[in-house]
Amino acid sequence: MTAASSLRTARAVRVVAHRGASHEHPEHTLAAYRQAIADGADALECDVRLTADHKLVCVHDRRVERTSDGRGVVSEMTYAQLSALDFGAWKGAGHAGARVLLFEDLLREALAAPRPVGLAVETKHPTRAGGRLEVELARMLREYGLADGAAGLVEVMSFSRGALTRLHRLVPGLPAVYLMERRLRPVRPPYATHAGPGIDLVRRDPGLVARLKAKGLSVRVWTVDEPQDVELCLRLGVDTIITNRPRQVREQLEGR
Ligand code: G3P
Ligand code: CA
Repeated sequence: MTAASSLRTARAVRVVAHRGASHEHPEHTLAAYRQAIADGADALECDVRLTADHKLVCVHDRRVERTSDGRGVVSEMTYAQLSALDFGAWKGAGHAGARVLLFEDLLREALAAPRPVGLAVETKHPTRAGGRLEVELARMLREYGLADGAAGLVEVMSFSRGALTRLHRLVPGLPAVYLMERRLRPVRPPYATHAGPGIDLVRRDPGLVARLKAKGLSVRVWTVDEPQDVELCLRLGVDTIITNRPRQVREQLEGR
């Protein structure tokens, strides 16, 4: 690869902020996402869950203990109960007071950004939601005119074939990312247009990226925070880097 083509390649790689700029800020908070936009992220990754009163909130874990001062299971709590918790203090006193983020508020924030900023939405899928989460997500994307993929701003992701199947039926026009953690499952959902292996998997099996690309899949790798892993992704032709450190990755790409 020539220096010029290497530079083009580095600039073409998309940078997605994993749970926002979550190295610096408490994950999934407005502050984390605002920082990610300021840091030049092309898109914002978020995990969505459904509350007991059917609101979509941005929370990674099934329970709230790790990222808040409360106790309980997200899907068993109402939005009002979650709103009473502090989702920032666990990251340091300077972040105290951050509130749970509604997916709708994140959507508005991305749409209000001074440049196009996408959303990579991962459904976390307690079986008790029985598909309701995907229905709510599709409804909201329709409400904002984002469900047909025409705006090119939203993609949906999941480790769950069931969730991807439901999403494909509800919003067939959206790019769908099939996430892979520890191993490459031999069969992928036929409608997945993108593959999302974890960086551990890519380090262990660098040929995986080429094999996925040979199947016509665009490749998103997560969670890529170390400079040497960014270099590895570039060498392998990864299309999108998902990172907790969007500014650092952006600077590394620009500096090549
Ligand atoms: O971007 C995909 C990645 O977020 C999947 O893992 O556990 O961080 O949701 P997790
Ligand atoms: Ca995620």
